[in-house]
Formats: sequence, C-alpha cells, structure tokens
Amino acid sequence: MSRIVYVNGEYVAEEQAKISVFDRGFLFADGVYEVSSVLQGKLIDNQGHLTRLKRSLSELAMEAPVTDDQIQQIQTALIEKNNLQEGLVYLQITRGAADRDFAYPAGVKPSLVMFTQSKNVIDNPQALTGISVITTADIRWQRRDIKTTGLLAPCMAKMLAKSAGADDAWMIEDGFITEGSSNNAYIIKADGTLVTRQLGTEILAGITRKAVLKLAAEESIRIEERPFSVEEAHNAAEAFISSATAFVMPVTSIDGKKIADGKPGKLTRKLREIYIQTALKSIM
Ligand code: PDD
Repeated sequence: MSRIVYVNGEYVAEEQAKISVFDRGFLFADGVYEVSSVLQGKLIDNQGHLTRLKRSLSELAMEAPVTDDQIQQIQTALIEKNNLQEGLVYLQITRGAADRDFAYPAGVKPSLVMFTQSKNVIDNPQALTGISVITTADIRWQRRDIKTTGLLAPCMAKMLAKSAGADDAWMIEDGFITEGSSNNAYIIKADGTLVTRQLGTEILAGITRKAVLKLAAEESIRIEERPFSVEEAHNAAEAFISSATAFVMPVTSIDGKKIADGKPGKLTRKLREIYIQTALKSIM
C-alpha cells in the first residue's frame, strides 16, 4: 500500500512525490534530519528532536521553512493519514535547489520532506536475543554532533557488519569507541557502572541517550561519561545501544566475542523495560 508523504507544503502519494535534481540535499548532502519514534500513534520525545533539529540547522546557517508547531502538525497529520500505530516519522530539511556550486547562493528556499515508516519498536525480536556488532574505523567527518544526511560512512560500516554476519558496527577512533553506525554505544562494567562516551563533536547527542542516562541515574546506576576502549568493551559485563528506533537494544557479541554469557544483560533489560514504560506513560 502506498504511503502519503509530505513534500514542501503538500501531502501526496509516495509515487507522486517530487524533489528537484538540483536540490543541494541530493547533490551535496546539504541537509539535516530527525527521526522520531511513534508508539500507539503518538510521538515519543518529539520536543527533544525538534530542539536538536534547530541546533543542526543553526550550525549550518540553514533556516527551517516552517515553525516547530507546524512540523509537529505535519508529523501528526502523517501519522493519521498513514494510520501509523508504531514506527517512526522521518523529517529532512535540505538547503533547497540552486545551480550546482559549492558555495550556496543567498535566498535559496529550503525543502522539507517527511514520511512515516512502520516498525515493531517494542516487540522487536532482537531485544530478546541481543544484537552482534563488529568494530570498524570511524571514517566520518569531524562534526558528528550535527545530524546531517551525509551518511555514507555509517552506511559502509553497516554493510561491512552485514557482510561479516553481524547486525551493526561500533566505530573506533584512536582506539576508543565513538558510537554505533546509527546509535549511541554503552557498556556496563562488572561493578555495575554504566559507561558511555561523553558528548562532543565526535558523537551525536542522542535524544534517547539523554532519557536513558536520566533513568539510569534515577535507578542509582553509577554513570561514567568517558571514552571506552575496544578491549574494555570486549570484557564488559553488558553492552547495549540506544536510538529512537532501537530504544535500548542489548549487544551480546562484539567482534565475534560473546559479552559475558552471550545473553542480554540484566541492567540492560531493566533499562529497556523502564524506557518503554516511561515512553508509554508520556503519551497517556
Ligand atoms: N539515528 N548516533 C548516531 C550516529 C545516530 O545516527 C543516531 C540516531 C543516534 C541516536 O540518536 P537518537 O537517540 O536521538 O535517535 C546516535 C537515527 C535513528 C537514524 O539515523 O535513523
């Protein structure tokens, strides 16, 4: 069945949606995006995503074509039009169409594209088994704090993982894990301390990360925000990732090495459960 998508002011069937071949998003990946999850037809933590979108835009001196309220209205309209119960709403703002030139001209009109995608976020079978990750060099650019559509390096990392028979890749810089291909990375040490890389230009400030760290603190889990090495990860008691579409997802093997007994860890399962309960409460 065809979806209704949003393109620059119009709701159209996905086959009818059009964007210029001169759009700088297409030519230069000159654009930013956000992914908000949807449970029971409602957006989760959307304000956080809109706030981060504003920051990404401002770092690139780009303007949003509509207000936050309007974005939220379009997100809600798409959820309704597509009868989406569980999954995500994707939104992308690109600089717009202009003759191809590395320097963008003044006054170019930004494009806004939005669509929904259905996905079992809660009853994801991988949450029961955990996922496997490989580690690979982080070859991305140096402003990973900006959520741009320039995602070729993470796509390559993910494909490398798939061809190695794994589910995802954790990226390494100077011997330390930065983050997953499209998620934040965490380990839990034998003493129960949760370790995840500190915020900075090396990683994306995950909206789910913020929520997870708050919930972990409320559970009196000790938190260390610092770089952790591949060796530390291999020897961790538990490991997991977080993102708007994975929530908290156990990692049960790294580079083919089982994490502890190779089953989702106790604290990880607890954090996933609390995260889901809190998300569901927020929409009641
Ligand atoms: N990715 N780090 C990277 C590199 C990401 O691409 C993402 C999200 C995250 C987690 O951020 P959040 O918790 O706000 O989703 C961390 C989205 C889901 C994607 O690209 O599909």
